[in-house]
Amino acid sequence: MDTRLVKIEDIEAQNADIDLAASILKDGGLVVIPTETVYGLGGDATNPASSKKIYEAKGRPSDNPLIIHIATAQDAEKYAHTNEIYYRLADAFMPGPLTVILQKKDTVPYETTGGLDTMAIRCPSHPVAHAIIERAGIPIAAPSANISGRPSATSSEFVVEDFFGRVDMIVDGGDCEIGLESTIVMIKNDSLVLLRPGAITLDALSCVCEKVEISPTIEGVLGEDEHPLSPGMKYKHYAPASPLVLLDGNDEDVLEFLISEQKTKRCAIICYDEELDALEDKLLLPIGAKDDIVSHGKMIFARLRQCDKLSPDIIYAHLPDKYGLGLALHNRLIRAAAHTVLKIDKDYFTKGV
Ligand code: TXA
Ligand code: MG
Repeated sequence: MDTRLVKIEDIEAQNADIDLAASILKDGGLVVIPTETVYGLGGDATNPASSKKIYEAKGRPSDNPLIIHIATAQDAEKYAHTNEIYYRLADAFMPGPLTVILQKKDTVPYETTGGLDTMAIRCPSHPVAHAIIERAGIPIAAPSANISGRPSATSSEFVVEDFFGRVDMIVDGGDCEIGLESTIVMIKNDSLVLLRPGAITLDALSCVCEKVEISPTIEGVLGEDEHPLSPGMKYKHYAPASPLVLLDGNDEDVLEFLISEQKTKRCAIICYDEELDALEDKLLLPIGAKDDIVSHGKMIFARLRQCDKLSPDIIYAHLPDKYGLGLALHNRLIRAAAHTVLKIDKDYFTKGV
């Protein structure tokens, strides 16, 4: 398939490119669009054939539902049963990195919702995404634009790696500002259930709705008979090809451990800027200053993808704190590492492990 690759730097001047993306979508084609979280693999959410194409291109199991992207929060009325809490969330966080699960209307086919009566709705703030959705005049189903099981794509370079030749158009809107997928919440009576942490943090949600529960799937490993509220949570995600181990310990101990590991192994190290001087300059993948969690979120998927190209024996990264945006970073890394955490403390060095 021929894929058009178009970089949009000026929406008004590039009106014709926005028109082209919109018309491909209306005709049932696939267009990768930039969003403020990660790139999305878009198709017409009301067209079962488009949804099927999305699942095929992504290699995704068809019971894992797609997020439906709309131009304004009010557009949800056409596709879902909204309520008072939805509008409170919308007023606070839309457009932006929040996805809300609602009961679907018949305007959205089951092929898009993975057979569920509920649907995920999101109103992205990226101006290019907004322009394309508005111009198309249809809701856009878009999972993260990565081949199933790979880290989400946060720049067009990674989209091209996964989808050039497999979609009709790739719209390059620059690097994604947040770099982690949207926060997903489900409304349950007068409370919220957090299904996937993201840039809209638990604290921010709590300001809008007093009761917020955290779904156990965010941190736990599911038992064989357990079903997650969010189907995507049961699949292994973001897995780099080499094993990823998360290091849990104070900065000094972890650095000492990394220095000694570099002597015996080809290890890729996802590290803080402050550690660069102390480590040997090989396979180092900095994600920003230690306290700059926003930078860590923005860079982590790119770094995991880089790891695949370096083919190290092992990859090390710091276990993030679970506070604020850290909860989202922790959730992505713990799954990428298949829950492998190594506790580094003084005992580690005296006894060895
Ligand atoms: O930031 C994002 O949300 C990005 C951008 C492109 O918008 N999209 C994204 O989509 O991350 P995806 O498909 O990779 O992740 C969507 C998640 C999946 O885990 C899916 O199971 C869950 O949303 N989901 C979708 N519909 C659902 C529903 N009706 N009930 C529960 N979970 C749902
Ligand atoms: Mg995804």
